[in-house]
Amino acid sequence: MKSKASAPGKVILFGEHFVVYGVKAILCAINKRITVTAEKIPMDKILIRTNIGKLELPINKPIVDIDSPLKPFYYLANTIIKKYKQKTGIEVFVESEIPSGVGLGSSSACCVAGAAAISRLFEETSKEEILDLAIKAERTIFPNTSGADCTVCTFGGLMEYDKENGFSQIKSNPNFHLVIANSNIKHSTDTVVSNVKKFKDKNEEKFFDMCKKESELINNVLTLLKENKLKELGKNMDHNQEFLENIGVSNKELRKMINIAKKTSFGAKITGAGGGGCIIALTDESNLEKTLSQIRWKNYDCFSVKIDFKGLDTF
Ligand code: MEV
Repeated sequence: MKSKASAPGKVILFGEHFVVYGVKAILCAINKRITVTAEKIPMDKILIRTNIGKLELPINKPIVDIDSPLKPFYYLANTIIKKYKQKTGIEVFVESEIPSGVGLGSSSACCVAGAAAISRLFEETSKEEILDLAIKAERTIFPNTSGADCTVCTFGGLMEYDKENGFSQIKSNPNFHLVIANSNIKHSTDTVVSNVKKFKDKNEEKFFDMCKKESELINNVLTLLKENKLKELGKNMDHNQEFLENIGVSNKELRKMINIAKKTSFGAKITGAGGGGCIIALTDESNLEKTLSQIRWKNYDCFSVKIDFKGLDTF
């Protein structure tokens, strides 16, 4: 018997980095998915096949001894084999529509879809339990993850998150399209986050003033999202980007991409850690194609997405 599950990737619309210091962030699941197929196999092995490589290991290997980006899948399969006291192994096959390592939530979507597909080989599990397992799996590669990405990949839609109050879904259905352009510069979230900390330590007053302004911006954005005011949301994206420039997470290439995207879209900014990765531009039907062609004309990889309201899906 095979079990299949899929989960969406994500973007951060507003508030990356400042969220680390208690400011609210707004995240959104996107309609690009990871699909995981799991199957029991008559061997005491865990086999993982993906578009970024393969991993084949005996069961019960200590997680700390595994040096592979596919470690979360091994963690999930091994944990579930132990939970259900299985004597056999598991094979996992991963198909992805999301580029990896560029801030679009591919690792979170893998953990969520992986947790669901493997669990369902044994029993139906609630989304809350899947999320809990997925966050533990993601922590095998990103120990400090807040869990926000896995949460939005599980439940889908738009979400606000802050460290103190956790997550809550934003009940709204704005009709925007996001254009995502990929700098193809891989970034390490950990490194960029620690550089921001150095900046904060040197510029305490300036940094906390920006946190205050970012908080005001986010509160304003929450109202604009409910009213579907795209032009004003775009202006707030540009404004948010100024804060990201000030804390040093942008660079020449990202700025160049943002300036191209801003010519036709309502607004554009980095999404995620910065230093590389992707930018997003806000559009609707009226300026979507123009924005895509402007960016493609300058030879950047880009595509458009909409909000995914489904989140985790099993079949
Ligand atoms: C990375 O996608 C988002 C950051 O705000 C880091 C974090 O929230 O853990 C840069």
